[in-house]
Amino acid sequence: MSDKIKDEFLELLRSTERDGVEDMIEELQSNGFMDAPASAGHHLNVAGGLVEHSLNTCKSALAIWEGMKTLNPSLEKSTPKDSVIIASLLHDVCKSDVYFRTVKKKKTALGTWEDAEGYKVSYKNFPMGHGEKSVIMILPFLELTDAEMLAIRWHMGAWAIDKSNYEEVRNYDTACKLNPLVSIVHAADMLSSHILETGGDDEEL
Ligand SMILES: [Fe+2]
Ligand SMILES: [Fe+2]
Repeated sequence: MSDKIKDEFLELLRSTERDGVEDMIEELQSNGFMDAPASAGHHLNVAGGLVEHSLNTCKSALAIWEGMKTLNPSLEKSTPKDSVIIASLLHDVCKSDVYFRTVKKKKTALGTWEDAEGYKVSYKNFPMGHGEKSVIMILPFLELTDAEMLAIRWHMGAWAIDKSNYEEVRNYDTACKLNPLVSIVHAADMLSSHILETGGDDEEL
């Protein structure tokens, strides 16, 4: 990862001037977040990929927030900029400790197989889920508003909802209706993956 990406990530996080931000940064630097990939086999599956994806998500979230404010100016008040930054930069903190280096078999252009450095996934460190794990990992260091917690918890949107679970469906729907930040962070996560981080696994389509 280039220092520029890491510096931009840290600058945005510090720009919120939130109590505990330095403690959060110290934690991110010691728990693996800064060196982790964003995935094992999809977008940004390289060291530093998680910081880059988090930064891309934040930039997308700010672009959505700015755009939607022109259509509905009340967003400025209901959803402060620092909330957009905190929730988007930290939505995937749960991925800090789930990727482990391994050697995988990769098919060459000639159809033969060769060893390639890669990552495998294990949830053994803290099998708590996804968005909910991020919230729990952040709270000892940084106070979050209810809207920020909900946006991080539900950032996977309807993709991660168990449709047979009535309570989960109602909770997600209610979170979206009460807090614009929930939809902003989910949309930003999708847009950063699908527009800013394309390429790499077309053959799986
Ligand atoms: Fe995620
Ligand atoms: Fe994400």
